[in-house]
Amino acid sequence: MTPGTPEPQGGLFISFEGIDGAGKSTHIEGLAQAFRVQGRAVTLTREPGGTPLAEKLRTLVLNDAMDAMTEALLVFAARRDHLQQLIEPALARGDVVLCDRFTDATFAYQGGGRGFDLQLLSILEQWVQVVPAQGADFIRQPDLTVWFDLPAETAAQRLASARAPDKFEAQPVEFFRRVSEGYLQRMIESPARFARINADNSRECVWQDVLKAVQIKGWLA
Ligand code: TMP
Repeated sequence: MTPGTPEPQGGLFISFEGIDGAGKSTHIEGLAQAFRVQGRAVTLTREPGGTPLAEKLRTLVLNDAMDAMTEALLVFAARRDHLQQLIEPALARGDVVLCDRFTDATFAYQGGGRGFDLQLLSILEQWVQVVPAQGADFIRQPDLTVWFDLPAETAAQRLASARAPDKFEAQPVEFFRRVSEGYLQRMIESPARFARINADNSRECVWQDVLKAVQIKGWLA
């Protein structure tokens, strides 16, 4: 490498999680901007969704009645396409991939919320997220997961004044308590990957905490 040439930077994969109403969207945009200002290419995406096929599956998952296994299979099918078509190529280019929800949402919503078998979800996770090019045992996971943690009651109040709810947003507060418990379990299993943010603070305070979670990793000045 010629002197003065910056080191090539590897891709970064950051996911954002939380119950509906936790208020992650504006902070994801803010973080994208902060990375761009530092010269990083950013791929902003979401789950379920992110590719034409996965967006079609999203419409089904968010609107059609189905059992928990069908829901889990559809979100993992969408994830497979998303990983292959968008996330892996973006990481290979060295992009910062900011993903609004990923597999923790499946463990929280289908596992915690719907009570679906967590072991089966783990098997699907291993199948869907394997990246053979990185080694036979390599399972793609976010480098960092920012969890916007908000009491289910507060989220319900926020959602009450929002647009017409989708299938999940229309769930009772007990459902979201179980979803939060699902996120907590995932954090306990992978504490180094998670940054838990108190989303019940002011927007500015939450933003500062999001920034800190990324700065502490050395990824933003
Ligand atoms: P959102 O993009 O507005 O957060 O909506 C996505 C919804 O889909 C949200 O209610 C959570 C739900 N969901 C699942 O149930 N399982 C999943 O694996 C993912 C990614 C999302």
